[in-house]
Amino acid sequence: MTRYTADSRDRVRDAVDMLAVVSQHTELRRAGASEYVGRCPFHDERTPSFGVNPIEKVYHCFGCQASGDVFTFVMETEGLDFAGALQMLADRFGVELQTEQEDPRAAQRRERRERLHSLLGRAAAYYARYLWEAREARPAREYLDRRGLGEETLRDFRVGYAPSAWDRMLTASRRAGFSDEDLLAVGLAQRSKTNPGRIYDRFRERIMFPSTDARGHVLGFGARAMRENQHPKYLNTAESEIYQKRSVLFGIDRARAAAARADQAILVEGYTDVLALHQAGLHEAVGIMGTALTEEQIGELQRVAQVLVLCLDADAAGQEAMLRAAALTEKRRLELQVVPLPEGTDPAELIARDGADALRQRVAASVPFLKFHIERILDRNDTGTAAGRDEAFRQSLDALGNQREGAVKDDAVRRLAGALDLTEPRLRQLIEGAAQRTVALGGAGATGRPGTAAPTNGVTLDQTVRVERAFLALCVALPDAGARMLFEIDPDQLITSGVMRRAARHIAGRTHSPLANLPPDDEVLARTVADLVARAGRAGHLSEDQLTHARLVLERARLERAIRRARAEGAVGIGELAREREAVRERIRQVYARLERAL
Ligand code: UTP
Ligand code: MN
Repeated sequence: MTRYTADSRDRVRDAVDMLAVVSQHTELRRAGASEYVGRCPFHDERTPSFGVNPIEKVYHCFGCQASGDVFTFVMETEGLDFAGALQMLADRFGVELQTEQEDPRAAQRRERRERLHSLLGRAAAYYARYLWEAREARPAREYLDRRGLGEETLRDFRVGYAPSAWDRMLTASRRAGFSDEDLLAVGLAQRSKTNPGRIYDRFRERIMFPSTDARGHVLGFGARAMRENQHPKYLNTAESEIYQKRSVLFGIDRARAAAARADQAILVEGYTDVLALHQAGLHEAVGIMGTALTEEQIGELQRVAQVLVLCLDADAAGQEAMLRAAALTEKRRLELQVVPLPEGTDPAELIARDGADALRQRVAASVPFLKFHIERILDRNDTGTAAGRDEAFRQSLDALGNQREGAVKDDAVRRLAGALDLTEPRLRQLIEGAAQRTVALGGAGATGRPGTAAPTNGVTLDQTVRVERAFLALCVALPDAGARMLFEIDPDQLITSGVMRRAARHIAGRTHSPLANLPPDDEVLARTVADLVARAGRAGHLSEDQLTHARLVLERARLERAIRRARAEGAVGIGELAREREAVRERIRQVYARLERAL
């Protein structure tokens, strides 16, 4: 990374007109010899509490305590890092920056990067000119026009057109002094498969959307097909030292300042969506290019804004993407909002169909991810039945457990409690009960196979109780077989733990809706049943053999207890018990063999 000299930084600071910089974001009026005040650009306020000293070039807000110098001001308002802010100010106030003495290898790398950026920038300019001037680009111009994308927006984003000839980019770039190796390195050219000595233009007869970094350096292209039989629909620049798709956000350079100011970024899937949103006045829009939002993209966005507004198609892929985004943002202090779109429509289509206002209204009405998620769950499950309510509870658990305390969670709990016919405190109790993982559920626990004891929180549950709990969880996970099983067994004989016995009695006859009719005064039972429901939800694909296996293991434990007791009491009837135990062991072996075969 480029390091500028301290002297460069000082010269920029000297050259900067602080009032001009701040005035772009808020109106200032004089309030003293060297003091100006205005409404704070960093928080919402009616009366001005933001002070600027144009001589020292510092600011301070008495309302929100924001303070800093001209560099932090630009970093915060434009969403730039320090080097970016320095470069921007140097540009604007005409200061030449000097870099620290670099070691020769670093200097070489930087020069190469700059050369490749410049090649890509020239390519974008070439394609853009071609779009507006070439006769063969006329169908592309008409197509973009039909889609409602205006010239101003297209020019702003440097949208272009790649000629159909196979060597236009090649020739132009060579003439400008770039080598074939440069062209291959940035992915503008590719080798012929039949004749590897020859290279030719990668992009031909396509509408070109250049992707840039936050400062506007072109990194690569998304190239849209123009003809029906031209595949793929979008041909993207291949991964390279310059272009890594995972960290690219289409339009970030155009969106950065607006997103920093609004403290929110609107995330859409496609290139045309970004253009349509900007044209509609939503300048905080960036494209994630497909549905898979990545860690790298989130890292980039986090520098710009706290609130991420997902504006994705509500189809299955979009839903999946929202869930993944929620998981990714959870660990960071980012807020996730969702703009639900009708299934099968993207924002660009919505604008074309219903107008820009319709989309603006939708964005303004975005909801916290958790609320959106819970509503979807309540839509999908019939909460008129106990089984449906249980299923809705199960599906809500992860998101609720992960949500930090606050108004968003309170609202969701209130909504869910209402729909599930529970009081809020009771629902919270159940959520906590399900989250309490005093013992890890290994595969061994789920199948009832005695395995390793897993001490967590300093608690080791007795091995027998673990098996008992796994058995009951399986009864819930396989409600029909579980109902038969619970009907056949005698909990007093087969289950040793008091609370597991109570749980067995409670869920017997209610395996489809174990959370129904919990006695209000038995909190331990409520937590245990909630825990069983949660475990059942995590159990994955199951067969009845697993349930049978768990039951047989409990049977064997019962016989072993009986044999120990018989020994203590003078060995009466021990032979009969031992034979029974042998029979159970044999059945365990058979079921176990079947389970192994099924794996
Ligand atoms: P879509 O297929 O939804 O395209 O893909 P779109 O953005 O609506 O395109 P238009 O409006 O028909 O022109 C969404 C995004 O997924 C990526 C692109 O970034 C695209 O904008 N994509 C799609 C690809 O990278 N390659 C493809 O072949 C298709
Ligand atoms: Mn589209």
